[in-house]
Amino acid sequence: MTDIKSKNITWHESNITKEDRERLNGHKAVVLWFTGLSGSGKSTLAHAVEQALYDKGCRTIVLDGDNIRHGLNKNLGFSPEDREENIRRIGEVARLFTQAGVIALTAFISPYRADRDNARELLNDGEFVEVYLKCAIDVCESRDVKGLYKKARAGEIKEFTGISAPYEEPLNPELVIDTAAETLEESTRKVLAYLQSREIIV
Ligand SMILES: Nc1ncnc2c1ncn2[C@@H]1O[C@H](COP(=O)(O)OP(=O)(O)OP(=O)(O)O)[C@@H](O)[C@H]1O
Ligand SMILES: [Mg+2]
Repeated sequence: MTDIKSKNITWHESNITKEDRERLNGHKAVVLWFTGLSGSGKSTLAHAVEQALYDKGCRTIVLDGDNIRHGLNKNLGFSPEDREENIRRIGEVARLFTQAGVIALTAFISPYRADRDNARELLNDGEFVEVYLKCAIDVCESRDVKGLYKKARAGEIKEFTGISAPYEEPLNPELVIDTAAETLEESTRKVLAYLQSREIIV
């Protein structure tokens, strides 16, 4: 747990509630938390789902690992402590977006179960949708979208998830998507169907 360093701080309530914003937008505000190995399809699916939501008139944002590491989290690396802090900040940022009435889609490997559970605990029941992109490491490696597996096998990248750093599978994710077996279109439809079934979107 991160310590609170400042003492003289007071919470100021907004006049406009999350529910007011959801009514205005015509959909609920949730976090879609995509987790899985590098190359499992988090970014691809998050952006495809975002496109489908946008086409329905929903307000969305994608928080994507590499992009966030260019800015907000540029001072963090890939040690266990830095991965924890990376995910802690993303959980908080995603929560801020839900307070703004937005559907936040996060695309981070987020390998530690405890870190994902901490992000879940920031939200109310039903507001955190964990989407596990289940894909065998050999399939992810054969895709090698960014050429990272090759570098990790050559020892050029230390602490690479699935090779030299752990990935803890979700125990009770809201959704499991098998990207080795499904097309992107099928996976996108599944996520949308889930959101409709929970009346998050119409
Ligand atoms: N059903 C599917 N959903 C998502 N991606 C798929 C699917 N089927 C095949 N793919 C392919 O898998 C690859 C996934 O790459 P992507 O960059 O999205 O992975 P990632 O999980 O974001 O990895 P990283 O953690 O390195 O950012 C893409 O080439 C994509 O076209
Ligand atoms: Mg990605």
